[in-house]
Amino acid sequence: DKLPGLLHGMPKCELHIHIEGSLEPELIFALAQRNGVTIPYASVEALREAYAFTDLQSFLDIYYAGASVLLKEEDFFDMAMAYFHRAKADNVVHAELFFDPQTHTDRGVPFQTVIDGLTRAGETAQRELGVSSALIMCFLRHLSEEAAFETLAQAMPFKDRFIGVGLDSGERGNPPEKFARVFEQCRQLGLHLVAHAGEEGPAAYIETALDVLKVERIDHGVRCVESPALVERLAREQVPLTVCPLSNVKLCVFDTMDRHNLAALLEAGLKVTVNSDDPAYFGGYMNANFDATFDGLPQLGPRHAYVLARNSIEASFAAESAKAEWI
Ligand code: HPA
Ligand code: ZN
Repeated sequence: DKLPGLLHGMPKCELHIHIEGSLEPELIFALAQRNGVTIPYASVEALREAYAFTDLQSFLDIYYAGASVLLKEEDFFDMAMAYFHRAKADNVVHAELFFDPQTHTDRGVPFQTVIDGLTRAGETAQRELGVSSALIMCFLRHLSEEAAFETLAQAMPFKDRFIGVGLDSGERGNPPEKFARVFEQCRQLGLHLVAHAGEEGPAAYIETALDVLKVERIDHGVRCVESPALVERLAREQVPLTVCPLSNVKLCVFDTMDRHNLAALLEAGLKVTVNSDDPAYFGGYMNANFDATFDGLPQLGPRHAYVLARNSIEASFAAESAKAEWI
């Protein structure tokens, strides 16, 4: 069976990776020691054992606690470089990294510290690994519109360091419309726009992300199937969905991988991509996601692998000249 070799070897883009979600337990402990931060777990093993999630919020609580060890520019650099090495090993040629500045600025870490470390890692990855990348700044949707505007203001001196904005954190009760004005300002600034929608939230949030926020891609989006009219629209408009299969199973969006709707979404003609979301927490990086998806959904074959890789390149915000080289 040549499928694993094909899945692993094909050039691919990763479009849905929260860089704070790439922080492995070993690095959390190393950074805690380096920075003199105490964490409420006795060992790497004890921390990893706590990764038993029942829903999105149960994950977010641990994810924000893990990020508390990040204080210095070099911490952000080391975290991102560890990710880029994993990406390189999985034949990821280009990655668009989400980062959550509010998780850090709310702890007193300057915005500049965060973005300097991530920018230096991106430059180093290009130079030393040949991995291309870009940053997408996410607003935490459980916080206020005002806090999002403050974050945007803090980001303005570094506007050339990130290509777009996104929306993440707890979805239920925090609809896209809450951020209509801040996304409008970002649109006027010429930034790319994406948003998490339809992971735990209803199909209606996918519609308002498109119609009110005017996003170019939907992160997750798997609950679109609850509205046949929306599925038809997503297919017609070829709106990319950045689906994260291992994440969806870990956060109980689907009970098991064989219940995942990725194959059905592809079959319906949607522009689906495969991504890792928070690989340190959900059981693996890009190729682990491809392996688990193709194992769980045996109706998927080489033709689907090719389509998923091509979709990831086409749906990226990379230059057309770069895309042509990867396809
Ligand atoms: N959903 C919402 N917010 C997040 C996620 C996610 O999957 N990962 C990190 N922040
Ligand atoms: Zn996500």
